[in-house]
Amino acid sequence: MPHFLYIKTVGCQMNVLDSEMVVASLRGRDYELVDDPRNADTILLNTCSVRQHAEDKIYSILGRLRRYKQKGPRKIIGVLGCMAQKDQQLIFERAPHVDLVVGPGQLQQIADLIEKARSGAGRQMGLSLGRRDGPAREIRRSHETFDPLRDSAMRPTPFQAYLRIQIGCDKFCTYCVVPTTRGPEQGRSPEEIVAEARILADQGCKEITLLGQTVNSYKYASGGKTTRLADLLYALDGIDGVERLKFVTNYPKDMNADLLEAARDLPKCSSYLHVPLQSGSNRILRHMKRGYTVEDYREMMCRVREMLPGAAVSSDFIVGFCGETEDEFQQSVEMVRECRFKNSFIFKYSERPGTKAADLFPDDVPDDVKRRRNNELLALQAAIGEEDNRRFIRSTVEVLVEGPSKKAGKQGSEGDTLQLTGRTICDRIVVFDGTRRQIGEIVPVTIRDCTAHTLIGEVVAERDGPDLFSIETPALRRQCEESRL
Ligand code: SAH
Ligand code: SF4
Ligand code: F3S
Repeated sequence: MPHFLYIKTVGCQMNVLDSEMVVASLRGRDYELVDDPRNADTILLNTCSVRQHAEDKIYSILGRLRRYKQKGPRKIIGVLGCMAQKDQQLIFERAPHVDLVVGPGQLQQIADLIEKARSGAGRQMGLSLGRRDGPAREIRRSHETFDPLRDSAMRPTPFQAYLRIQIGCDKFCTYCVVPTTRGPEQGRSPEEIVAEARILADQGCKEITLLGQTVNSYKYASGGKTTRLADLLYALDGIDGVERLKFVTNYPKDMNADLLEAARDLPKCSSYLHVPLQSGSNRILRHMKRGYTVEDYREMMCRVREMLPGAAVSSDFIVGFCGETEDEFQQSVEMVRECRFKNSFIFKYSERPGTKAADLFPDDVPDDVKRRRNNELLALQAAIGEEDNRRFIRSTVEVLVEGPSKKAGKQGSEGDTLQLTGRTICDRIVVFDGTRRQIGEIVPVTIRDCTAHTLIGEVVAERDGPDLFSIETPALRRQCEESRL
């Protein structure tokens, strides 16, 4: 008898990838995936703890699932991911109808733990060791991955996939739970990574996004040789079938020359760099323990603009971090203006119990001030996004077509014209009219119009604009020139 699995995933790309693995392993045990929890006998929530809001959402879903469990006591409800590792036993206390709690480093146990819970063995837990709960080797070992298990049907498109190259994080930014929930930073071996990329290419995958919390800090030492991200990119570039390589998220201090050279020289390598700045104030960066100054970040941006003039850079910001004054917030505004990010993800500071910031600094910026700062930064970023997108009008870009746009929905048979969406090598979203046959292909599109987040164009048989468009920002250019003096 098959089982029916419903899985809900929140959080970052790591969680999306983890859910793919979980589904792959459960399919191997005769589970079928369903998209309505009412039709499932196993309900899994893959959770995130990065902000309070993400946790509240899960506890509210768990509240609603209580009735399901009352109606069908044999149904299994599981909480996976970062919140499972962080809250552990507390989840059973707050939601007694939960059957299993499994952290991101123990997901290889998932099928067995479900089976035990189903056979009446009671509540099950699969957790990694805390960062001070034993010898370093054991702690590292307790954060495992079972990455080679892949399920192409779980991906948003069959030709795009994530590939984890690094687990955990050792940066310990004072506001962040990730070093606790995902454990110590560990690079996977290059052999494993390349082998997995080959499997993905054989499954028809054209675009691989390498994942790591600080992906450009990746290193793997073996036999006297250290492999870094740039070396991996050279190795992956040689795989037939793979046409694009991306990597997220970058840590500003580790953006070294080798990596920028690889990004410049390898045609498959995306010219998109997500390098979160977090704040434009040196005092705040120090309190966040980010390990760089605004001047360091500027210097990095100059090197990026010099080596990769057409690259798009995006950032994350936290507004309303403990003690952030209006003046300090305005320094973040200034940096958005100066760096002209392609886009920025902007978050209101959310105090996380157990972090250094929660221990050391009061969360003293009122919520309405956080909200106003968030909106102000978003509005500026949107205006910059639109201005920079305008500069693409009349140029031709190469678009990897991902599928019908939201507007087109599911309509249209094979030959019908419908609105498609895809991305440029700089990760810009492009919509244009085409046919389903173009999905998964890289097509040239001439840009006719734009919004802050989207380029709007049409497929061209012949190119009628410059091939590669480079956005130069006057302020940065000036600084680069000054720094050369
Ligand atoms: N490893 C990545 C991102 C991890 S979390 C990096 O270092 O860039 C993604 C983003 O969430 C962070 O970049 C940060 O902007 C935000 N974030 C993390 N903890 C937060 C908190 N406590 N409150 C608000 N935003 C937070
Ligand atoms: Fe969190 Fe900082 Fe690590 Fe990113 S680098 S995951 S923000 S501790
Ligand atoms: Fe959230 Fe864990 Fe990712 S806390 S952001 S799911 S690493």
